[in-house]
Amino acid sequence: MNDLSKTTFTRHPTDRPVPADVRAGLLKDPGFGKVFSDHMVTIRWTKDGGWHDAQVRARAPISLDPAAAVLHYGQEIFEGLKAYNLGDGSIALFRPDQNARRFQSSAARMAMPELPEAMFLQAVDELVKIDSAWIPKGDGSLYLRPFMFATEAFLGVRPSYEYLFILIASSVGSYFKGGEKPVTVWLTDRYTRAAEGGTGAAKCGGNYASSLLAQAEAMENGCDQVVFLDAAEHRWVEELGGMNVFLVMDDGSLVTPPLSGTILPGITRDAIITLARKEGRTVREERYSIDQWRADAASGKLKEAFACGTAAVVASIGKIKSSKGDIVVADGTTGPVTAAIKAKLVGIQRGDVADEFGWVHRIR
Ligand code: PLP
Ligand code: COI
Repeated sequence: MNDLSKTTFTRHPTDRPVPADVRAGLLKDPGFGKVFSDHMVTIRWTKDGGWHDAQVRARAPISLDPAAAVLHYGQEIFEGLKAYNLGDGSIALFRPDQNARRFQSSAARMAMPELPEAMFLQAVDELVKIDSAWIPKGDGSLYLRPFMFATEAFLGVRPSYEYLFILIASSVGSYFKGGEKPVTVWLTDRYTRAAEGGTGAAKCGGNYASSLLAQAEAMENGCDQVVFLDAAEHRWVEELGGMNVFLVMDDGSLVTPPLSGTILPGITRDAIITLARKEGRTVREERYSIDQWRADAASGKLKEAFACGTAAVVASIGKIKSSKGDIVVADGTTGPVTAAIKAKLVGIQRGDVADEFGWVHRIR
């Protein structure tokens, strides 16, 4: 298959789509990651054949050899992006080229083949078009989950010679159960997410697997998410389990941890930095310690904090809980700077605010 030409996707639409009335019921309050659309896209890769066998087909269980490398050594990467119904009847994606590129850099880090950007984008277009009825109206969206894993049946430890790329879609509402309420995050002082030279900047399943014990600890402590500190000094704020983090200072400036190689280079993070700087706001990508956070919250220098990502969009952080005491940032409401940043971002994503940077990719 030539990387530059359009790929031919063989289409086998399902003969058993979910009936429209059942789908409508599911879309009323979909939550996050529980409601799935009718179809999926699959593309195979082999060492000898490269990328081939692109298909759009009924979403269904897959069969895997029990020796498939992913089941033993975890060679897997994924992405997350959303399709929105815009007010004018069109459907749009937000910066899907960035997801395609990050998927390639994750692949490179995990010694996997890079899916050509055009093929990634075509797969997304194909699935969104065939399953457009699954995009909720109003605030919801269709969360697209491209992923790829090692399928070769071989127990030797080396990069697999065979992979399967799959794209599925899930109709979603708010990521957090509490909706717009500020979230409470758990500061883990026991576990770290990523170390220098590790896979922190890649979107690989293993990063999430290793975060789950801390996430479980967070949930036991009544928190929504974990905040991780750096692995070397256990001082510097890195990111949450599934989101980047921003702080809003009393002079209106923003601070966010730098892309040091141990955190995920968030596409939402990048958009927020770009939009804030365009508005004349100072944004510092610099290290910020948890002790500083505690001191700035106490002195009033820190006014707001928020988490951001595709799934969560922009979520105000109300409180950090930790074994060394809580840090309270917000009093139960989202601060004005966080609210304004969120409104602008969501406005662009949904076609209600001018798309100055060419981020919105219309597919219909
Ligand atoms: N950090 C982690 C660990 C994530 O899982 C995500 C979600 O994708 C993000 C940050 C935010 O990235 P993005 O804005 O590209 O969704
Ligand atoms: C996303 O925001 O797309 C993510 O991947 C985070 C998710 C794992 C909650």
